[in-house]
Amino acid sequence: MAGKDFRGRAEELRRIITDHDYSYYVLTQPKISDYDYDMLVKELEELERKHPQLITPDSPTQRVGKDLTKVFNEIPHVYPMLSLANSYDENELRDFDRRVREGLGQESEVEYVVEYKIDGVSINLCYKDGLLSYATTRGDGASGEEVTANVKTLRSVPVKFREYPLSGYDLSDIHIRGEIYMETGDFRRLNDERVEKGEKLFANPRNFAAGTVKMQDPKIVASRPLKIFVYYLLSREGAIKTHSDGLVILKRLGMRVNDAYKICKGIEEVIDVCRGFEESRESLPYEIDGAVIKVNSLPFQRTLGSIAKSPRWAVAYKFKAKQERTLLRKITWQVGRTGALTPVAELEPVFLAGSTISRATLHNMDEIRRKDIRQGDTVIIEKGGDVIPKVVAVADPERKGRSAETAVPLSCPECGSSLFKPEEEVTWYCENSDCPAQIKGKLEHFASRGALDIEGLGESLIDLFVDRGFIRTPADIYSLRGRKDELIQLERFGKKSVENLLDAIEKSKEAPFHKVLFALGIRYVGSGAAKKLADHFGSVDAMMNANAEEISTVHEIGESISQSVVNYFKEEHNLEIIKRLRAAGLRFEGKKETASKEFFAGKTFVLTGSLEKHSRDDAAALIEKSGGKVSSSVSKKTDYVIAGESAGSKLQKANDLGVKVLSEEEFIKRLEE
Ligand code: IVH
Repeated sequence: MAGKDFRGRAEELRRIITDHDYSYYVLTQPKISDYDYDMLVKELEELERKHPQLITPDSPTQRVGKDLTKVFNEIPHVYPMLSLANSYDENELRDFDRRVREGLGQESEVEYVVEYKIDGVSINLCYKDGLLSYATTRGDGASGEEVTANVKTLRSVPVKFREYPLSGYDLSDIHIRGEIYMETGDFRRLNDERVEKGEKLFANPRNFAAGTVKMQDPKIVASRPLKIFVYYLLSREGAIKTHSDGLVILKRLGMRVNDAYKICKGIEEVIDVCRGFEESRESLPYEIDGAVIKVNSLPFQRTLGSIAKSPRWAVAYKFKAKQERTLLRKITWQVGRTGALTPVAELEPVFLAGSTISRATLHNMDEIRRKDIRQGDTVIIEKGGDVIPKVVAVADPERKGRSAETAVPLSCPECGSSLFKPEEEVTWYCENSDCPAQIKGKLEHFASRGALDIEGLGESLIDLFVDRGFIRTPADIYSLRGRKDELIQLERFGKKSVENLLDAIEKSKEAPFHKVLFALGIRYVGSGAAKKLADHFGSVDAMMNANAEEISTVHEIGESISQSVVNYFKEEHNLEIIKRLRAAGLRFEGKKETASKEFFAGKTFVLTGSLEKHSRDDAAALIEKSGGKVSSSVSKKTDYVIAGESAGSKLQKANDLGVKVLSEEEFIKRLEE
């Protein structure tokens, strides 16, 4: 083949393969056999290998990146990622409809679209000029983590729109929202493989999908059968009048839209459709946990707007949790990292909502008493939206010959020490802070995925290391390097795996301050609170110097968290751990601004009037994330006033002082730069 022919053939192959990808992954109607498809891909790979200059970024061979993602960049969402208010019965849906009609000042029936609520991970896809620009996770709703390399491995996500441009619409800069999920059958198969390899199981397909989307190696992501459904198009294009038209456009662009959606006139039709969805739930190859009801007209959606974190124009209708009966063999008590004892129901294994359940939480002693749960009972278990199944009730409370009432153990089941119960709590605690269960629990938390994410340092290794006396506190993890030879001597632990582990430990030193703060395991400080505290204080030193009142002024940080933080820093041994972790090189200071943008950096903004796409809080957060400051009053020092609809005196003042004024549209443009 001559040079030109190579190019021509490569282009042709790319087109043919992309077409087959679309038929197979989006339409799920393959047109050729897997073998023939593989042959085409092989031919293209071969051509590109011989003539690397032929490789284009949108080539189907370029979906799986070679590089590992070191850190996931944080990107502010141009349009905040809202969540939905939930409703649990038909009357709540009628209430929703009433609020919608009141908000619109309309008596007559409103048109709604009802869709499946896919139980997966939400994702934001940004396309510029028809090409996938980046993909972000939901994060905290205001900004998310960039996971483009991973999302690109999903062949149902077009790298390039199938039909573009579409005449009559400006779709040059749009955001598409969807759900990444895994089919239940694929999930079961992959989990079975994990059992064989002795790896930790994923609780459900959603967690599996979520874990996969945030993996550092796109090659592993590519090997897992993730899929996508998209359900929401965000653009500045005014020519799209309804949500359902948006879905049709998404399909034309080559996106995978779930066809089960229904357009309904009025809420009674919506309720009928929801009932139908609930019935068909069992027969679907993927999990849905409800229906989503959206006002179809986009101008109506704009009129209704959003409150706090959810739109007024949409609502989720959650299906009833699935239930099953089974035998409660035994009640055991688990000791957590704080020493808290949690009762666990050991069950006769039973299949429920996609997985086999052999344990369920019993929450605490009060719950056990209230429901009078005893060993040997037949119990009803339930799996709702949450991961952890729970025991709802005893199925046969009148049965003769039941065992004795359940009691709190006399001593810690792990170390035999005494137990105590703080007066204001329902939980019992082991009083021994050296209890091995607490030590191990703290270490497991420290190394876990949501905290410092030290790959390989899971439950079994921690057990082994603690039992051998290698580690006791998180700070000891960073001294393991000095015991390398001892580690290699351990059974089932070769040189390579020791090196991998030490590398993973080394890498954890790069974790941002808020992850370190979460990893410390301060009581009540979850990952969300840790992020807020880290953002606010910027360093552990500033936090240590603050008193409880100061801490509780942080947005959404309540009294119990702030008191707990203060107590934590009072303990000498905690300070010692921090000192050693700091010496090991962990970050106890936040990097101020990673997403700083030239336009915003160091400038002062004032927001006025009502913005259409953002709440004031969200807009302010976006400005701050981009390196700007937000002030409440206009002065000569103000760099820009961002004026929404019906802006009043501040806009006037800006004009008087000659301060530059931006429209919301210009503001969004700047954010996207
Ligand atoms: S619309 C502002 N549609 O459910 C509206 N969400 O809390 C944004 N979800 O975060 C959501 N299926 O992850 C929408 N057909 C669907 C959905 C859906 C699943 C998820 C999504 C969202 C959560 C709602």
